[in-house]
Order: sequence, then structure tokens, then C-alpha cells
Amino acid sequence: MISDSRTYAGRVVLVTGGSQGIGQGVAEVLAARGASVVVHGLTQDYVDQTVALIREAGGTAVGTWGPIDDPETSRRAVALAVTEFGRLDHLVTAAGIQRYGDAVSTPIETWDEVFAVNVRGVFLAAHSALPHIREARGTITIISSVQATATQQSVVAYTASKGALNALTRALAVDEAAYGVRVNSIAPGSVDTPMLRHSAAMHSEGTPDAIESTLVTWGRSHPLGRIAQPRELGEAVAFLASDAASFVTGTELRVDGGLLAQLGAALPAKD
Ligand SMILES: NC(=O)c1ccc[n+]([C@@H]2O[C@H](COP(=O)([O-])OP(=O)(O)OC[C@H]3O[C@@H](n4cnc5c(N)ncnc54)[C@H](O)[C@@H]3O)[C@@H](O)[C@H]2O)c1
Repeated sequence: MISDSRTYAGRVVLVTGGSQGIGQGVAEVLAARGASVVVHGLTQDYVDQTVALIREAGGTAVGTWGPIDDPETSRRAVALAVTEFGRLDHLVTAAGIQRYGDAVSTPIETWDEVFAVNVRGVFLAAHSALPHIREARGTITIISSVQATATQQSVVAYTASKGALNALTRALAVDEAAYGVRVNSIAPGSVDTPMLRHSAAMHSEGTPDAIESTLVTWGRSHPLGRIAQPRELGEAVAFLASDAASFVTGTELRVDGGLLAQLGAALPAKD
């Protein structure tokens, strides 16, 4: 019999940063495929909204919140998965922050903040979740960025943190293979989330029209001509965490509309 590798029935997923943006898209897609989802976010309000969205759509979800650089937050989230659902199969880390600045204009505190949330936060989640994920022979999927591979001006801390996540993905994959656990990362291009809209506001006049037209312009820099929706990232996670990807570990999946495939320089125009 061929099993349906797209189903997550009986599986339990913890999504850090699942209350908004990409993490919310992941939580919705996996819940729609039958997973029981533990939704984590920084604050209770958005976590409650996402849990309600999933339940209204017929899915199963519970919520937990707190700063991801505090070890207690991950411990609580993992404990919730086990008390509510009896197991934990998959961890998806989508909690992250973006800060701007070059090496001079980035305050040291900002560098530390970015690494605390984006790197320490992922390590802490893996640290707490892995004993259960090993038992389930499950997966970890880390939301990294195209900026781990190529970068723009004035994002030193963010870019360095995403490079660290790709290295962490490889280290975890090599260690956890012995336990039957697969670990991969995803490199999104621009995705329509509160984070991206905040960036668009910073880089434009900040009016609703200016934000929309900035997003359209940014979308054009991707060969597919648009930015992504969070659920498109959810579909990529659903593949990587599923049995359909049973021989895939230690790698990065680009979900970037072709962004990294394209050279910045155009061919010289014909006379
Ligand atoms: N949106 C994009 O275009 C894009 C592109 C590439 C990579 N990413 C990455 O994807 C991930 C999600 O980004 P997004 O755009 O959905 O962001 P978002 O700001 O829309 O959502 C971030 C999520 O992380 C949580 N979070 C933020 N700071 C936290 C903290 N200190 N402790 C605990 N939780 C915290 C928030 O509660 C929220 O659930 C990030 O790692 C980001 O770097 C985003």
C-alpha cells in the first residue's frame, strides 16, 4: 500500500514564531494536513488569534508564548506538546527578527539581540525538543533566509545570524542522523509578513499605498515577479518534514521565486 506522505495525522508539531507571518502559514498548512500544532509567539494576543484561526478551520492547536532567547520558553512549549498530545514529532523554528545597520552603525546591543533571538533561540528550541524528536524519529526545519547566501547593504547582524543557522542546520543534521532525525533549513525570498511590511514602511513614506507599491517593486526583483505568501513556505515545510523527504537532511531548500538563481547584472543592451 502506498502511504499518503502528505498527511500529518497523529503527528505533533511545535512552531516557534507560529503566531504571525511565515510561522503562522506553516502552522495553518500543517494543521490542515492533520497535525496537532503547538503555536508559539512572543506575546499571547497573536498566539490566541492564530490558535483560533486554526480551530475555526477544523484543526487542532494550543498556544504558548514568551521570549525565545529565554530557555524557559522552549521548555514550556515542549512540555505543553507532551502534556497535551503525548509526543513531539516536528520542530519548525520561525521566530526571528530583522535589524538594519553596517558594522559601525549597528549598536553592540543590537548585534547581541539579533544573535540571541535568531541563533540562540533556535539552539534552545532544538535543545529542549530533541529528546522527544529523537524518540519520534522526527524532523527539525529551520527558517533561515536567502541572506545566508547573498546579502544587501546594511544588514550585518541579520546576515551573519542566518549564516550561523545554515551552519547549525548542518551540525544538527550530522549529529541527529544517528537517531533517525532529519534537519533542514529553508531560505525564503521576500514573504508577505508583518516583518516585511515593517521593512517596506521603513524604506518608503510608510503610507498604506507606499507600502503596497514597495512590496510590488521588491516582488519584481524575484524572477517569478512577486513576493511569496506565508502558506507557500508552509507547503515547503510540509514537504521537508514529511516522509516524502526521507533521504533529505543537512540541506537548504530555496523558496525564493528564483531570487538567488539570478545575477544582479543584466546583459549589456544591444545597439
Ligand atoms: N518575511 C520575509 O520576507 C522573510 C524572508 C526571509 C527569511 N525570513 C525569516 O523568517 C522568519 C519569520 O519571519 P516573518 O517575516 O514571518 O516575521 P514576523 O515578524 O512576521 O513574525 C515573527 C514571529 O516571531 C516571533 N518573535 C519575534 N521576536 C521574538 C522573540 N524575541 N521571542 C519569541 N518570538 C519572537 C513573533 O511573535 C512572530 O510570531 C524569520 O526568521 C525571518 O528572518 C523572513
